[in-house]
Amino acid sequence: MDILARPRRLRLDEKIRNMTRETRMSKDSLIYPIFIEEGKDIRTEITTMPGQKRYSIDTMGEELESVSKAGVRNIILFGAPAHKDECGSGAYDEHGIVQEALRAAKKDFPDLYYIGDVCMCEYTSHGHCGILKGETVDNDKTLPLLAQTAVSQVRAGADMVAPSDMMDGRVLAIRDALDEAGYENTPIMSYAAKYASAFYGPFREAAGSDNFKGNRKTYQMDYHNRREALKEVFLDLEEGADIIMVKPALSYLDIIREVRDNIDVPVAAYSVSGEYAMIKAAGMAGMVDEASIIAETTTSIFRAGADMLITYFAKEAAQMIQSGQ
Ligand code: PBG
Ligand code: ZN
Repeated sequence: MDILARPRRLRLDEKIRNMTRETRMSKDSLIYPIFIEEGKDIRTEITTMPGQKRYSIDTMGEELESVSKAGVRNIILFGAPAHKDECGSGAYDEHGIVQEALRAAKKDFPDLYYIGDVCMCEYTSHGHCGILKGETVDNDKTLPLLAQTAVSQVRAGADMVAPSDMMDGRVLAIRDALDEAGYENTPIMSYAAKYASAFYGPFREAAGSDNFKGNRKTYQMDYHNRREALKEVFLDLEEGADIIMVKPALSYLDIIREVRDNIDVPVAAYSVSGEYAMIKAAGMAGMVDEASIIAETTTSIFRAGADMLITYFAKEAAQMIQSGQ
């Protein structure tokens, strides 16, 4: 026979396909985002993210319970505060919404791992990720506030902090402040390559941060750029980041691969709200099989090189991993 090779031999049945599979996933690497709102007895459906809700501190336990039952142990918290002001004081308030949620969650579900998202946009009246000077965000004036936010979250119980603001120098500012406060063992997961993306649309409804004028292009990255991602990543590593994040995920699989191949710390990917919304919408319309699409897209992010994944589908992904899909 003149056939050179028969790759189909390794696809003959499920046993050999599973044995020779290249990408293997673990529930341990999944992180589930949760939105906490001020008030009581709240379970608000987020209309742009069907199946996702905002909870108040007294109801959040229901969600933590269901996440932990699914075998997901890592949580990232976002706050939807009742009060917003020019300088985003709710972000670094010792009794802010995220800080109080962390205290309650740590007490009732001490076995979960809690990551605090560090940013100002949910807390500022103008909706930008820092304090403003004219039309644009004042980088250096924002840094101490981000550092203060991180320290207050860790003091309230956060196991890790994840700055998502994209200011220059924030990782170093946060590292210094944490060390000074005695938290030298608290890791920083940096949203290092975070692109200015329309895929964040549904999140902004979820977190109530859709009030801002203009866009975030003066601080988040231009999606035409790949080399710039490495520049941001190397800077954050130099400043002391322990884990590097790429965000969004699905339109940025090339960036995930590029980063994975060039550094030796864990790489996290964030499959964002718009990715979730698109899959949900197509699934609900009966246009695609939702569960299969979740399995395939989730796998593709790990195959691209992510070591960890933040996803609103964490529970479904855990189920998929459990069943060996
Ligand atoms: C806050 C923040 C955003 C997301 C995570 N942290 C929104 C933004 O930058 O506008 C997006 C998450 C998502 O879309 O799921 N800076
Ligand atoms: Zn922000």
